[in-house]
Amino acid sequence: MSAALAAVILAAGQGTRMKSALPKVLHPVAGQPMLTHVVASARGAGAAPVVAVIGHGAEQVKAAFASAGVTFALQAEQLGTGHALQCAAPALAGFAGDLLLLCGDVPLLRAETLVNLLAHHHNQQAAVTVLTAELIDPRGYGRIIRGADGVERIVEEKDATPSERTVREINTGIYVFTAPLVFELLAGLTNDNAQGEYYLTDVLVAARAAGERVAALPVAQAEEAMGINDRVQLAEAGKELRARINEGHMRAGVTLIDPAATYIEPDVTIGADTVIHPGVHLRGKTVIGRDCEIEPGVIVTDCTLDDRVHVKAGSVLNGSTVGSDTDIGPMAHLRPGTVLAGENKIGNFVETKKAAIGKGSKASHLTYLGDAEIGAGVNVGCGTITCNYDGVNKHVTIIEDEVFVGSDVQFVAPVRIGKGSLIGAGSTITRDVPADALAITRAEQKVIEGWVSRKRNKTRKE
Ligand code: UD1
Ligand code: CA
Repeated sequence: MSAALAAVILAAGQGTRMKSALPKVLHPVAGQPMLTHVVASARGAGAAPVVAVIGHGAEQVKAAFASAGVTFALQAEQLGTGHALQCAAPALAGFAGDLLLLCGDVPLLRAETLVNLLAHHHNQQAAVTVLTAELIDPRGYGRIIRGADGVERIVEEKDATPSERTVREINTGIYVFTAPLVFELLAGLTNDNAQGEYYLTDVLVAARAAGERVAALPVAQAEEAMGINDRVQLAEAGKELRARINEGHMRAGVTLIDPAATYIEPDVTIGADTVIHPGVHLRGKTVIGRDCEIEPGVIVTDCTLDDRVHVKAGSVLNGSTVGSDTDIGPMAHLRPGTVLAGENKIGNFVETKKAAIGKGSKASHLTYLGDAEIGAGVNVGCGTITCNYDGVNKHVTIIEDEVFVGSDVQFVAPVRIGKGSLIGAGSTITRDVPADALAITRAEQKVIEGWVSRKRNKTRKE
């Protein structure tokens, strides 16, 4: 039986080097706040509860994670990493088991690495196990000082002697502690060091003094433990996370023509044999079916696309559902509440919003369909517009099955167009049209012969 597992994520620091009004842990990496990735790896390792220690920008962080099932502990003043963990103690009152300690700025950390760390902690029967990394350039990190019987202590760069600074094994800031023991050890910490802070790292020495084992596990890939301190590292982390996501899709049968230029967020799913061109962004909870083609520059957010959907270049799709065998774009704009039943064509410069469009219906060019219920087999001519807004309220346009709408028609909503009727080109439709009827609202055409040359002659004399 494995021990109970909780996680504490330290996220109270300011993140000064980000030079941002946004708290560091809220900066997105691959479309999601940094902290979301860390919470996901803690959960992936089986941790519950997950406690986030917040301070700088606490209200913003809380608001962003209100529905994430994270417990918050406030560290009003940042007195050091040891003090930060102490602030989480009330949230973990009565907890006995393994306590994972993570920082909120390590979005590349994998859940498997934490699982390995926990296994090592158990094998070593340790009270503290620290995840370490071998770095070519260890500057800025705490150094792991090993003695005859394992890890003796961790020394911060600012407190280290010149010879200690040559050590290349560093503290990633990720640990497993045995709780509640760790809280007893924390209570004895002092801030007698170069930074006047309560160092979490001093818990190692306290544990040894109490006769407990301290273990260390070097991480296989050092970049996993990379802490994000500035926007250069933020961009590097984004690149690495996208590469992982993209590799997963390619291995699952999705063609990415240029993975380095393809931006897919973590929660997106894509069916096999779908082809994604460069410059595509797939965001949020988007689901893409099989055998789809998504052309360059398309942005899809929170949409569901069924199989064999072809989205042509430069289209933007948001909060929409697209049935199978549908063609969209180029440069189409599907806004929230668009539901296409399938076998549709939504062509260039067509915008839809809150529009339910039946099977096989088409709007091929230059059209706005908002607050519309459109049946099956409807043809919407070029330049057609639903006039859905009267300046105060939105109104619905209903177009029943098999209606043929000529070019450049305006539907002044609310209005209903009966099944199979025909709307003449250039009409402004303000009243309901019954089934099977022709509706046309055109001024009669006038032709005045010779008018142009007469006008020209007149102008010359003057
Ligand atoms: C810490 C470690 C160092 C390690 C490094 C890894 C200590 C004393 N040192 O150093 O050995 O190599 O991390 O990145 O632990 N935080 C709080 N409250 C505080 C202070 C920090 O929540 O009072 C949070 C920060 O937001 C951050 C994390 O703890 O997420 C690490 O803090 P930071 O100040 O970056 O620690 P380092 O000095 O880098
Ligand atoms: Ca740091």
